[in-house]
Amino acid sequence: MVGCTPDEGGGGFAVATRTVALTAEKGGVGKTTSTLALASELGSLGRKVLVVDLDPQCDTTTTLLRGTEPERSLWDVWALPPKRRSGALTAPAVQVEGWDQVFVVPGSPHLRDAELAGQLGGPTVLAELAEASSDGFDVVLIDCPRSGSELAVNALSFAQWALIIVNPSLYGEHGVRATIATVQRARAQLNRSLAVAGIVLTSVDRRIARVRERTEELLDLYGPQVWEPAIPYSAEILELAETGLPLHRISTRKDSPGRRAREAYRTHAERILKLRRRTT
Ligand SMILES: Nc1ncnc2c1ncn2[C@@H]1O[C@H](COP(=O)(O)OP(=O)(O)OP(=O)(O)O)[C@@H](O)[C@H]1O
Ligand SMILES: [Mg+2]
Repeated sequence: MVGCTPDEGGGGFAVATRTVALTAEKGGVGKTTSTLALASELGSLGRKVLVVDLDPQCDTTTTLLRGTEPERSLWDVWALPPKRRSGALTAPAVQVEGWDQVFVVPGSPHLRDAELAGQLGGPTVLAELAEASSDGFDVVLIDCPRSGSELAVNALSFAQWALIIVNPSLYGEHGVRATIATVQRARAQLNRSLAVAGIVLTSVDRRIARVRERTEELLDLYGPQVWEPAIPYSAEILELAETGLPLHRISTRKDSPGRRAREAYRTHAERILKLRRRTT
């Protein structure tokens, strides 16, 4: 298992900026939802947050910009010649309306085309774009595509922390194992600063016996690395993408799964702010 404290790095943002890649081997497990929810909570905690939408599906962008076409996207800077990349990551960033201090670098489907054509430019383009960035962000959250892809490897070349997202299902444990292996490879080959921050369990419906069993299994195997509480399955969370509202502004009844999901994401947002680099 990769250790929990990276030694240096951050790809060029200020020393205090925490860069976190939300990653998973599997699709549809809650990476985008968790990115949005954590951005919402960090923003409401008064932190300045940059969300980088690295997934060519652009779900994060669609939610945050409520379907409006961004003027510029990550692709505009990705396609720059290598000499002009340094510090360009934040150039396309837009402040998200109604989301406190949350900014997004919009994603682009062109990234998928480039990846399929073998023209992404290698595993370190994102890190090069982030070099010498100095916009005072407290946290950079990267919504990743599936963890094996070249695009996702770019996130791991740049981030200090990988936050693994898993849905407790039959194949959930396999997904966590595969993602940890990918993080270990990226750390060994590309980014000594990278470490696993933790594992977040999402869409957990404890009324279902199988889900309870899979949750226990993950807790047994990965113990302290699992960030508790797990995120419950909740209708309000589904609303997050539908309405484009920050999670903390969606109304939730006391003791409802939505309220518990919000509180869990708040706890995890606070935990992100406590991530510490290794000092030795
Ligand atoms: N806690 C939750 N309760 C209910 N629904 C949830 C919860 N978390 C995520 N979902 C829903 O599950 C679906 C998949 O979530 P999401 O899009 O965040 O996954 P993803 O890992 O980003 O998927 P992809 O791999 O396609 O990018 C969405 O419809 C989302 O609203
Ligand atoms: Mg997604």
